[in-house]
Amino acid sequence: MTKLIVVCGATGALGGSTARRMLQEGWQVRAITRNKTSPAAKALAEAGADLDTASYDDTESLSAAFKGANAVFAVTNMFDNIMELGQDGAGEKEYSQMMKIAEAAGKTSTLEHLVLHTLPSGEKMAGKGFYVPHMDNKDRAADEIKKSMPELAKKTTFLWLGLFASNFYTFPMMTPIELPNSYGSYIYIQPCKPDSWMFCAGDTEKNVGTFVHAILSKPEISLPAKYAFAYSDALPFNKMLESWSEVTGKRSTFVECTQEEYGKMWGIFGVELALQFKALEAQPDWTVPYKGDVVTAKELGIKAEELVNLKDALVSFKETGKL
Ligand SMILES: NC(=O)c1ccc[n+]([C@@H]2O[C@H](COP(=O)([O-])OP(=O)(O)OC[C@H]3O[C@@H](n4cnc5c(N)ncnc54)[C@H](OP(=O)(O)O)[C@@H]3O)[C@@H](O)[C@H]2O)c1
Repeated sequence: MTKLIVVCGATGALGGSTARRMLQEGWQVRAITRNKTSPAAKALAEAGADLDTASYDDTESLSAAFKGANAVFAVTNMFDNIMELGQDGAGEKEYSQMMKIAEAAGKTSTLEHLVLHTLPSGEKMAGKGFYVPHMDNKDRAADEIKKSMPELAKKTTFLWLGLFASNFYTFPMMTPIELPNSYGSYIYIQPCKPDSWMFCAGDTEKNVGTFVHAILSKPEISLPAKYAFAYSDALPFNKMLESWSEVTGKRSTFVECTQEEYGKMWGIFGVELALQFKALEAQPDWTVPYKGDVVTAKELGIKAEELVNLKDALVSFKETGKL
């Protein structure tokens, strides 16, 4: 019988990748959105997904949307609420939304597998003083599911993602900026050392679906409650920038700034991102506090050539006019 996956965040990058891949794999896909008439929702319907409406702030609506699901994929985003609620408020809201998703999933009698996007905790990785709201609150939800929802935890994989290659054109803070009167020179100002080590998720529009499909195909690898770590490259920040220069043909310079300066430049978004980069600078290896519970692409049976790495992602962005 055809299996049903309910994809929350289906109109976004991660959920969209998951929905498209699972449709290709012959699954029935129920795509959740708050707006069925958006261009992204319409495109999903045209690709074969059934559209349904639910909100992360309403457990009842999630329960109704999850009815009959064999699998649920979900991704939340505190950056959507950071301007209105501040870092702590938006972090708290993201945690509460994740717990509502978990509550609804826990009540879904047909559920075999929940794949929930989380990130490692800055404090667990780098110690006290490295609290990063958009990372720590996601990890707090994972811990709470393990502690208070053991039956759901048995069916849950937490999906971590490295930096998106698409940040180079979607995320202003991570897009190189042309220096006026420099005849085509670009600067990349970041609040960390140029040789800070980063995990990159490559082309998330493609790679996330590859990971979710592998997770669902081999549930025994990442259940119960393991952290599937999705990345295509591990490289220093300045090497990421070098790839951007090679692909675009534009000169670039990495400029290190302080956390305070980054906050001054980019406001609350900069303050939040600087916390992440400082934590990753202090402990670049995400797996250290989670040893034994982290599952890699290799363990999931994903071959390197199945993932679109940073350089190839940048080439395709260039070819499609995004860079
Ligand atoms: N950028 C990076 O390098 C990076 C790296 C690692 C992790 N991340 C994480 O990736 C996540 C963002 O993923 P994304 O890029 O796929 O997000 P996105 O493209 O902004 O999509 C967000 C999705 O969530 C849905 N959504 C938002 N609020 C909702 C609500 N209250 N109820 C129901 N649905 C809601 C939206 O659906 P509708 O609007 O259609 O309702 C949309 O489909 C964040 O958690 C971020 O921390 C980012």
